[in-house]
Parts: sequence; C-alpha cells; structure tokens
Amino acid sequence: MSEILNYSVENDVAVATIDSPPVNALSHAVRSAVVEGVTRAGADPKAKAVVIRCGGRTFFAGADISEFGKEIRTPTLHDVLEAIEACAKPVVAAIHGTALGGGLELALCCHYRVAVPSAKVGLPEVALGLLPGAGGTQRLPRIVGAAAALDMITSGKPIGAQQALETGVVDALVGETSLRADAIAFAQKLIDTKAPLKRVRDRDEKIKADRGNTKLFDEFRKAHAREFRGFKAPESIIKCIEAAVNLPFNEGMKRERDLFLELLASKESAAQRYVFFAERQTAKIPDIPADAPVRDVKRVGVIGAGTMGGGIAMNFLNIGVPVTLIEQNEEALQRGVSVIRGNYETSAKKGKIKPDDVEKRMQLIAPSTDMSALAQTDLVIEAVYETMSIKKEVFGKLDGIARKGAILASNTSYLSIDEIAAATTRPEDVIGMHFFSPANVMPLLEVVRGRKSAKDAVSTAMTLAKKIGKTAVLSRVGPGFIANRVMSVRGREANAMVLEGVSPADIDRVIYDYGFAMGPFQMMDLVGLDVIGRDSNVKTVASELVRAGRLGQKKGGGYYDYDENRKPTGLSPVALKIIRDVAAERGVPQRRADDAEILARLLYPVVNEGAKVLAEGVALRGSDIDIACIKGYNWPVYRGGPMHWADAVGLGDIVSKLKEFEKRLGEAFAPAPLLEKLAKEGGRLGAAQGASA
Ligand code: 3HC
Repeated sequence: MSEILNYSVENDVAVATIDSPPVNALSHAVRSAVVEGVTRAGADPKAKAVVIRCGGRTFFAGADISEFGKEIRTPTLHDVLEAIEACAKPVVAAIHGTALGGGLELALCCHYRVAVPSAKVGLPEVALGLLPGAGGTQRLPRIVGAAAALDMITSGKPIGAQQALETGVVDALVGETSLRADAIAFAQKLIDTKAPLKRVRDRDEKIKADRGNTKLFDEFRKAHAREFRGFKAPESIIKCIEAAVNLPFNEGMKRERDLFLELLASKESAAQRYVFFAERQTAKIPDIPADAPVRDVKRVGVIGAGTMGGGIAMNFLNIGVPVTLIEQNEEALQRGVSVIRGNYETSAKKGKIKPDDVEKRMQLIAPSTDMSALAQTDLVIEAVYETMSIKKEVFGKLDGIARKGAILASNTSYLSIDEIAAATTRPEDVIGMHFFSPANVMPLLEVVRGRKSAKDAVSTAMTLAKKIGKTAVLSRVGPGFIANRVMSVRGREANAMVLEGVSPADIDRVIYDYGFAMGPFQMMDLVGLDVIGRDSNVKTVASELVRAGRLGQKKGGGYYDYDENRKPTGLSPVALKIIRDVAAERGVPQRRADDAEILARLLYPVVNEGAKVLAEGVALRGSDIDIACIKGYNWPVYRGGPMHWADAVGLGDIVSKLKEFEKRLGEAFAPAPLLEKLAKEGGRLGAAQGASA
C-alpha cells in the first residue's frame, strides 16, 4: 500500500485518508494513492460507501505545480477523476482547509461533498495563467450556473464553506473538529437511504437556460476587458464555460483539454508559475531560518504623518495594532490624521470595510507632536524628508527615547541604512522598511538589512510584512535598494530617448502594450512634474514644463493636454517645443526608433541593472528582483518580471543589443559581467543567486 494512504473501513464506510505534506498537492504519488484507495474500496465487500479525505492542514490544494511541463506519469489526474466518478459505491469528499484547483475538481467528481465551516473551495488556476484542466470548467457551471462560474473561475477567488453550501458546491457542512466522524455518518445515511450516485456531469438544470445566450459571455468580456488585458487564460476560461453551456459534456471536456494544453505551453503561464514559486522564495533568508525568533511588536510608532507616513500607519491600524503618529506641529498632525480618516471613510463607502471599522481604526491612533511618546513603542518607522542630516538627527533623538530592544526602521528610499544606524548607539536595532507609494496599497515591502542589523530585527520585519499583507523582499544597503534602482534606468532612458526625438506618446504606447498600466510620461503627468524633479537643479524637460506652469494632470497639463475630466486630448505642442529646445541646447543628435528598439532601450538596461544588483549582493536572488518589480511597480505578472523575461527573450540577444547601445551611447550600457557570464554559460537570471554580502 502507498505510504501516504491510510485505508480503513468503519460501519460499512471505507475511509481513504491521503497525507502528503505540506498541502497534499496532487503529485504522482498522491494521484496513485487516491486511485489505490478508491479501487480498493470499490472491490472491498465490507465497504458500501467511500470517504476521501486528507491528513494535515488541507484537502488537496490542486495539481502539483512543480510537475507542469514535465512528462506526465500515469495515473493522470483524469484517470483519478474517472476512477472516482465511475465508482459503483457513493464517494464522499470530506473537505477541510483549501480545496483548490485540481483538489476541487476531484471533489466535484465525488458523488457528494461535505466540508467544515472554515474550509474554502476555489479554482485559482487563472493566477498561474491556466484554466482548471480537470473538468472544473465543465462541472462548476453545472452546479452554480454560467454567470457565477465565470466570476469564480476568471477571478480565481475561493469561496467560503457557507457560500459553497448555499450555491450547492458542497452538500452539507459538518462539525469543525469532527470532519471524519461526520463524513462517515453522512456516508452511512447515503447507504441507508439508498441515495443515488449523483454525477455532476449528468446535470444541466443550471446551464440550460443560458444555452445559445451569447450576450451573457460578450457582456462579461466587455465588462472585464481592462482587467484581463494581456492575460491569455481568462479568454480561454470564458470559451470553456461557453462550451459547458452549449456542448455535450464530453465535447466540453475535450475543448477544456485543448485549451488547457495551449495555455500550459504559453510563455504567460510559464511566467506566472515561475512567479508563484518566486513569491514564496522571498521569505527565505539563507542565514535566518524560517522559525527564527522574532521580537514582539504590540505598538508601532510612525514619524511623519505625510502621505507616506499616513499610508504606513494604516497598514498597522488595519490589523488592529495601535500606532503612535508623530509630526512636528499640530497642524500637520491633524492634516495627516484627517487624511487617514478620509481614506477609511472612502473604503467604507465603497463597502471595502464595515462602517464601524472607521472609528475602530481611528481610535488606535495616538497622535503626538512629542517624540518622547515613542518610548512605549516596539517598532518605530521613520518617514521624514529624504535628507541624510535630517534622518541622522531623528535617529539620534530616537536613540535617547526608544525602549531597549525596540526596532528602529527608516522608510528611506535610497539613503544608506548603515550611515543612519551610525547615528545611534544601537545599530543592531536599525533596519530599513521601504514601503512603496501609496503605502497602504502597494504590496511590496523592501526590508533593508544593514551591516550591523540583528537577525531578529530582520526576521521581525519579514514576519510583520506578511501580517500586514505585504510581500517582503530582503535588500542589502545600496543606492535605491532593488526596485527603485532597477526601474530608475527605465525612466532615464525614456527621458533620453525623448530628447533624441522619439515621441513620448510612442514610448508610453510601447510600455502600455508590454503590459504596464501606463507609460512613464503618463505616469509623470499623473504624479505631478513638480514632484518628479523636486530635488534637482538641472534644467530638464520636466523642470521647463513646471516653469511653463505645466505641473501635470492636476494643473495646466504636462506632456499631454487634458480636458476638464482629466482625459488626455493629445501630446501638448508646448511640451513638444520644450523637448525640441532642450535637445537643441544640449546638441542631442536626432534619430528614429521603431517599437522593438524603444522596448529594448527602455527595458534591457533594467535587466542589466538587475544583474549588477545581484553581483553586488544587494538582492539575494534574481527572482527577488522580479517580485520587487511586480509588487512595487506593477511589472506585468505574465512577463514574470525583468529577470525571467530576459531569460525568455534570450540573454545572448540582450547582451548583443546592449553592446550595440554601448557603442553608440556610451559605457552606461556595457553589459554587466554577470549577465555576460550567464549568457555564455546558458544560465538564467531568474535562477541566479546574489553574491554573498
Ligand atoms: N503544487 C506544488 N507545490 C505547492 C502547491 C501546488 N499546488 N501549493 C502549495 N505548494 C507548496 C508551496 O510552494 C510551498 O512550498 P515551500 O514550503 O517549499 O515554499 C508549500 O506548498 C506551502 O505553500 P504556501 O507557503 O503557499 O502555504 P500557505 O499555507 O500560505 O497556503 C495554499 C496554502 C492556500 C494551498 C497555497 O499554497 C496555494 O494557494 N497553493 C496553490 C493552489 C493552486 O493554485 N492550485 C491549483 C493548482 S493548478 C491545478 O490544479 C491544475 C488543474 O486544474 C489541472
């Protein structure tokens, strides 16, 4: 018998328990064990019904993602599902934890399903650039109807057990702590009442009303066009559900199979599967084990109640952690507090939080203009002006106020944490916690490890990040850390190309078509040109636009003109003249560039900078750089981030293009030695490790 299968018979009911940590993913071993359990129960004269359940923390969490792209060994998932559905005795799925993807598809092949109240079920394949490939697109609509299936499968969002009961996805809820016994009792009742073997494939009462209803699908496509842009899987999912509604079951299954295989072979899915594992890697730090001690953080202090400080504070208020909020004067403090209140009120109006959550969260703020109020906090995050002398002064003061063992963090986006730490007598307690704007929304947190940062200070920040719903990426000290540093070269090249005569609109279009939400010039107009160039005295197109009263969308327009609804009406002739004047003044040679050239010029330097970040040991691994760009800059997830994308393009091609740029434009484009090395050896940036710091 398979080692991961436990088989027993109790009161006429066979119980097949599969236990394959961590999440019972349907690997070859798990599939074999399920088939063995069902076959044995089918042939067992003592068994009149079968319960399939899992040991450990969850019911099957889906197909084993690490097996995708490798040779498929039998029994396949389809073999498993056929064995279950064809069983002559009623089969009951007993669900706890998360029945996801292939896990839910397996449950949908069982004749009945029971779940504990805390269970969740869903088909999240879309997040991997896939569709449910084991009948999910055909069976789920037969239970919940086409409209609900479209929502559930294209969003990938799981539903709770109660909703699953209400929609018929599960037949009964059972006791939270008595799943096994209750599932057996449920199966016994099936035996006693001679209940039929209910096969979802045979049902059509929920789909027949939509047969031939093309409007339902067209409207769904239209309503989600923006959200689905660039992704392949949603459209394939819609096609499968159309097939479920309009075609006989077996034909629908064939359609699902064909489209699943097409997606499995796509670049987009390869990227999204890479991201799935990359996201889980970022928490792993070679010299700090996952269960390393962390410091207790019961109260947080935030210095600075501006946009950044306020956003940072909200992360903690959201999870019920009190925040002491510090500003220099009462007016700025009150302004900061009222912005936070406004944000919460907007969320409540949109139904994102409950109305009484606004007050609950606001009451957790202790506003103060006196830094000594920070004496009671366990973690202080400083978010004041980005000037080293000011940071040092703040940390020096903090050193005299904060309790022993408190973590002192800076939200600096490019200054040296080591230098800031040196302003205190406890550099081991100092780290960077770099949030991305808006800090209450963007999912990235760069945790910056200084030369002297204590391991438990780092692990506390990494753990806290997860609690506040952020993905933490560890960075060593270096200018701009990871995300800002690699992405800033894209901005540099965009500005340079514009001076060479390339239209800002072409650059924005190429970046949008690549999959970003907007291009660099649209972004600058949105953020405000006065904000962009604030710290520089150099004469640039942006500074000249500001001088001409063009601050961006908020005032006068920027690179683009806007109508009264802030809709762009085209590139501004004033901006174009400014570009021409600055270019002429600097004597920049003019040239044309096609879309491929524009993309290479903007993004190959990002790849190159990533290679430098790795070689310097600023990032732990190539995949961390990808996650930082995806979570901090909305790099399109179906491209996998700059490192994975570069691997897909071919590192050799990138090196030769960079050399061409180097010849024409100078040494800033010289390929990083690590990039050249990997290109020569056939290595991958996405799999590369950072140099040990
Ligand atoms: N295949 C392989 N490994 C998986 C896996 C899967 N489906 N799901 C999780 N794992 C691994 C993770 O990589 C991680 O490994 P690590 O410890 O070595 O880093 C470990 O299991 C634990 O995972 P998490 O850290 O994510 O644990 P959580 O408790 O936070 O979350 C979970 C558990 C909700 C199950 C989450 O892991 C999850 O969402 N998993 C993916 C579910 C999914 O996408 N299923 C669909 C798969 S595709 C499919 O089924 C195709 C079919 O239609 C044909």
